[in-house]
Amino acid sequence: MSSRVLLNLVHPVLEKSWANQAMLEAVKDLDFVKVNDLYEEYPDFFIDVRREQRLLLEHSLIIFQHPFYWYSSPSLMKEWQDQVLAEGFAYGEGGYQLADRYWLNAVTAGASEDSYASHGFNKFSTEELLRPFEQTANFCGMTFVKPFIMYQSETIGHSAVEKEAQRYRQYIESLVHRLDIAKAASGGAEPVEEA
Ligand SMILES: Cc1cc2nc3c(=O)[nH]c(=O)nc-3n(C[C@H](O)[C@H](O)[C@H](O)COP(=O)(O)O)c2cc1C
Repeated sequence: MSSRVLLNLVHPVLEKSWANQAMLEAVKDLDFVKVNDLYEEYPDFFIDVRREQRLLLEHSLIIFQHPFYWYSSPSLMKEWQDQVLAEGFAYGEGGYQLADRYWLNAVTAGASEDSYASHGFNKFSTEELLRPFEQTANFCGMTFVKPFIMYQSETIGHSAVEKEAQRYRQYIESLVHRLDIAKAASGGAEPVEEA
C-alpha cells in the first residue's frame, strides 16, 4: 500500500520529546504513513512551498502531530499554514485543491483533561481551543476529523504514554479504514507557487 497519510510532525526539540517521540514510534512503521518532520526540514523557517503542496496533493489524510504550545501549535506550523495554504492553491480562484482531504490534529497537552473545561483552570475545552485549525480546514474545504489528544503528557508515566501512543496508532488505522482513504486516488492538480 502506498502512503496515503501524511504525518506533518511539528516539534521544535524532538530529541527532548517524550510523548511525541512515543507517538511517532507507534505509527512510523505503518506502510501508508509518510512522516514529514517540519522542524527537521525547515530549521530556519524557510518553507519549500511547492514541496509541501505536492505532499498534500499526494495524500488524503493530513495529520498535524504537535505538542500543545500556548493553546495552539509550535510556531512553525503557523508559518507553514501562512505559506502553504496559499490563495490559488488552498482557496480562491483556482484553489480548493485540498477539498477532498481530511485534517487531523494529534496533540499532546501537559495539562489534564479536567482542566480543559469551563470549571477548570484552562477554562475552555481543547475542542474549543482547536477551532482556528478546524475553521482553517473548513475554509479550505477540507474535512476536520476529531482531534487525538494525549493529556498530562509530561506526568502520566512511561507505560501510560506507551498506551496512549498505541491508542493513537489504532485511531489512525480506524480512520484510514473508516474514511476509506487507503485506496483513495490522489488529486491531479499541480501545486502552485506561494501567493
Ligand atoms: C512553550 C510551551 C507552551 C506550552 N503550552 C501548553 C498549553 O498551552 N497547554 C498544555 O496543556 N501544555 C502546554 N505545554 C506543555 C506541553 O504541551 C508538553 O510539554 C508536551 O505536550 C510534551 O510533549 P513532548 O514530550 O513530546 O515534548 C507547553 C509547553 C511549552 C514548552
